[in-house]
This record gives sequence, C-alpha cells and structure tokens, in this order.
Amino acid sequence: MKIIKDKNKLKQLLHNEKNLGFVPTMGGLHKGHLSLIKRSIYECEKTIVSIFINKPQFNNRKDFYKYPRFINRDIKTLKKMKINYLFLPKDRQIYFDGKNRNIKISPLEKKLCGKFRPGHFKAVVDVVDRFIKIIEPKRIYLGEKDMQQLKIIENFVKKNHKGTKVVGCKTIREKNGIACSSRNFLLSNEEKLTASKIYKLLYLKKKILIKNKSYLRKIKNKIKNLGIKEIEYLKVINVNKLTKPYLKNNKYKIFIAYYLGKVRLIDNI
Ligand code: PAJ
Repeated sequence: MKIIKDKNKLKQLLHNEKNLGFVPTMGGLHKGHLSLIKRSIYECEKTIVSIFINKPQFNNRKDFYKYPRFINRDIKTLKKMKINYLFLPKDRQIYFDGKNRNIKISPLEKKLCGKFRPGHFKAVVDVVDRFIKIIEPKRIYLGEKDMQQLKIIENFVKKNHKGTKVVGCKTIREKNGIACSSRNFLLSNEEKLTASKIYKLLYLKKKILIKNKSYLRKIKNKIKNLGIKEIEYLKVINVNKLTKPYLKNNKYKIFIAYYLGKVRLIDNI
C-alpha cells in the first residue's frame, strides 16, 4: 500500500490506472467503511481510499475538533486489507484556492439534514468534486447509511463526471442494530443501548409508520421517553423521490436524525 500526501504525486502515480475504485472517508474506520473497501477491491483492479476530515462540511467547530481520529489504527487496517493507495492530504493540498462557492447541487440539499446543516452538502460535494478531479476513478463507493449524501453526490457526478460511476452500498450494522458510524466511538455503553432501542423500535414499527403517518407522533414520544431531548427529524420518505427521474415502484424508508447527548446520529431504516 502506497501512502501519498501530495496530490500532484498522486496524479502522476494514477496516470495509467484505467479501473480504479475510490472510497472517500474521514477515517475512524469501522465495518461500514470496510464493506465499501471490500466491494471496491472485488470489483476494481485497484483501490484507493482517502482519509480527510473535511472541515468545511462541519457546521460547528466543536463537532470538528471532537471528530474521532485514529490514523495509526486506520493505516494498519488498510495495510491488512491490501488496498493499493491511501491518500492522506493536508488542508492546503485540497483547498489551495479556498472553498468552491459556485458549486451547484440538487435542491435535495434543502431537505432532511440539509435543513439543519446549512452549506453542509455543498461542502461535501465540493470536496468529492476535488477528489474526483485528482483521482479520476472509474467507480466511487458510498454508503446508503448517508442516503441523502449518496443521492446528492450521485446527481452531481452524473452531471459533471461522465467517466465515474457512483456505487451505493448497503448499511452495515452492529449486532445490536445500530448503524456503524465513526461517531459511535463518542458514545457511552448506556447511550449505545438507547440507540439500539431506537433502532429496534423503528424497525418493528416500520410497516405501521408507512401505512399511517399520524403514528409518527406516538413514536416520537416513545423516543423522547427513552431520554432523547432533540429529534431533528423523523420522516417516512419514498427513497425514489430523493432522486430524479422518479421510479414507479415505491420504496419507503424511515429517516431519523437525533442527538444522543451531544452526539448527532442519523439513520434510515
Ligand atoms: P464518512 O462518514 O467517513 O463515511 C465514508 C463513507 O462510508 C460514506 O460513503 C458513508 O456513507 C459510508 N458509511 C458510513 N457508515 C456506514 C455504514 N454503517 N454502512 C455502510 N456505509 C457506511 O461520509 C463521509 O465520510 C464524508 O462526507 C465524505 C463523503 C468522505 C466527504 O468528506
């Protein structure tokens, strides 16, 4: 595994790669990330992973500084997996010209997480766009855990990077049901238990919620009774409506964002 910090060096190295799979991450690697990497290794000739904690996509400083950082552990994990390249750029390598404020993304950015995190998705697309320009991957692997991010990037890449295909990958969960996330490292055992109860509640009530949206209020109260003070949103959404063109078959999912103490968690079930 080659570790590269300089984007020009990386461009040179990748010059002749025709079948490259790319997995962008912010580190704090877990089973969710590993599933994307395994799929890339399986489907592509070579695999590149990036670890870059993209400051502009964080809506508050504390969240950025608190974000889990386990770089030595991550490098060991990636070496074991035998990926080909690890890209570890510094801020100035990526943002040599400041943030790209002209980035145009789908109106989908205003919904769900976008409503509560102004500018977040523009910053995500900005950094992914910069990475694609450097790496020119054939495929880029993203998780359904962040469904809105996946759909927004997919729309953007279809329009702007014809040579790259976005591949969406299933959400990987812990044994207790909670979606693997780097932010889980910030949870106490008691908080993990609460998160697991919320997952099980939504999983069990999914059918009723889809049939009868007025049931949402009841479920919200149940979640509050588990000690959750802030639910940003709890919604039943036709996943196909998150993207255009709309498909005929309906596929409903429950989308949630809430705070467990100071940690913000999202899921779709
Ligand atoms: P990060 O949170 O590190 O996630 C990297 C990728 O792993 C994303 O595509 C995310 O959807 C996927 N992922 C996270 N948890 C998962 C799980 N439990 N199952 C399956 N996939 C999962 O998302 C980001 O980083 C950043 O926004 C990034 C795209 C790297 C841009 O900065």
